Amino acid sequence: MIEGPRAAKIEELPQIVKLTSWIFGFEKHGVYLDKVFPHVFCEKNIENLRVIVSDGRVVSHLGIWEGWLNFYGFWLKVGLIGCVCTHPEHRMKGYASALVKDAFIKLSSDRVDLVMISGARSLYTRAGCVEAGIIYDYHVPLDVIKDLATRLDGLKIEPYTEDRISDLIGLYQSEPIRFKRSFEEFKLLAGRTFVAEVSESMSIFIAYRMGKSVSYVVFVKGVWNNLTIVEYAGSRVAALKTIYEASKIFNVEHVKLPVPYGDWELTTLLEEYGLKPKSSHATASLAILNPVVFTEKIRPYVEERLGVKANFSIAACNDNVFESSMFGERVKFEDSRAFTMLVFGRPETVHSSDTVKFDSSRIPEVFKRVFPMPSFNYGLNFI
Ligand SMILES: CC(C)(COP(=O)(O)OP(=O)(O)OC[C@H]1O[C@@H](n2cnc3c(N)ncnc32)[C@H](O)[C@@H]1OP(=O)(O)O)[C@@H](O)C(=O)NCCC(=O)NCCS
Repeated sequence: MIEGPRAAKIEELPQIVKLTSWIFGFEKHGVYLDKVFPHVFCEKNIENLRVIVSDGRVVSHLGIWEGWLNFYGFWLKVGLIGCVCTHPEHRMKGYASALVKDAFIKLSSDRVDLVMISGARSLYTRAGCVEAGIIYDYHVPLDVIKDLATRLDGLKIEPYTEDRISDLIGLYQSEPIRFKRSFEEFKLLAGRTFVAEVSESMSIFIAYRMGKSVSYVVFVKGVWNNLTIVEYAGSRVAALKTIYEASKIFNVEHVKLPVPYGDWELTTLLEEYGLKPKSSHATASLAILNPVVFTEKIRPYVEERLGVKANFSIAACNDNVFESSMFGERVKFEDSRAFTMLVFGRPETVHSSDTVKFDSSRIPEVFKRVFPMPSFNYGLNFI
């Protein structure tokens, strides 16, 4: 007997953790996904663990985490989707597609503004997602930032311990784009695991000047001792110094540093040192669920930049076709995914073969004064 898509039951949680940990390759290293995604795989989030059950066994799963993203002072409700999987014996029966459809219905009824899915597949494109948002991929050789690091000798770099959580919170709160995290959530996320093969894969270092925290950087160490930065906050100069000092501890020659479009302080600093991004990838597979409501939410941001006279608006013409206008200039979107692409921008590298009708040369210049909006990373909220 097949049940679902539906919310999981609390007694199914161990089965879900086992199935997902096995499929995503964590179980063979003795790591279970409730340690990797503690905010997702927990009883509190059971409504958001969506499943298909066959003869009492969970055979297909999709995880949701709902929260808030503060974007330059206004709040967007976000729905993060991850850990989508189907047991190999039950694949190609449409189960994952049914779960994605069910998730979008749930997120719409929960009035989510923006969906973020980690991963790029036709499964998500067909549901209305597009790879959008721009994250620049920098590879930072340490000898390049050595000069900056040695000049900044007033900074003290300390490893994070739980009693320093308030330092992280204070710095993260000062970021123009950030997820809402309660004190408890922040503590939980700062203690999470990232990579199955490397125990203690995540490390956080905090930079202090005159005893005050000025920056922190979250590092993830991969299987080959490669180092990637998953989150940073506070002073970008201090962050580079932190990267330098921590990398010496990890004994690596370079680090991977993803920098969202719009973080001009960090991008220009890196450029001053002669560094250019290797490429850019998408924030996630993104979907703006209701372009009309979304436009209302971002209007204050647009008006601050262009003035109320911009008269920024969007109207639904008919099924999934929208027309947006600004300063009397109009542009029609045949598909809500094209609107998402306009708002968040398209990176150089995309993975899925989504065929979105979007001709950026047709976009009136006034729209380009405000779009793409600055991008953002999942950081510690990654699912
Ligand atoms: C990816 C995965 C979840 C798919 O599960 P599934 O239950 O077999 O999925 P479905 O039967 O609904 O669909 C299978 C494929 O057919 C496609 N498909 C289904 N119905 C379709 C339709 N009507 N028209 C076109 N394509 C269709 C789906 O988009 C999907 O393609 P994709 O895998 O390239 O995205 C499963 O293979 C899996 O668990 N893989 C390992 C874990 C993983 O990689 N998860 C995804 C992380 S991003």
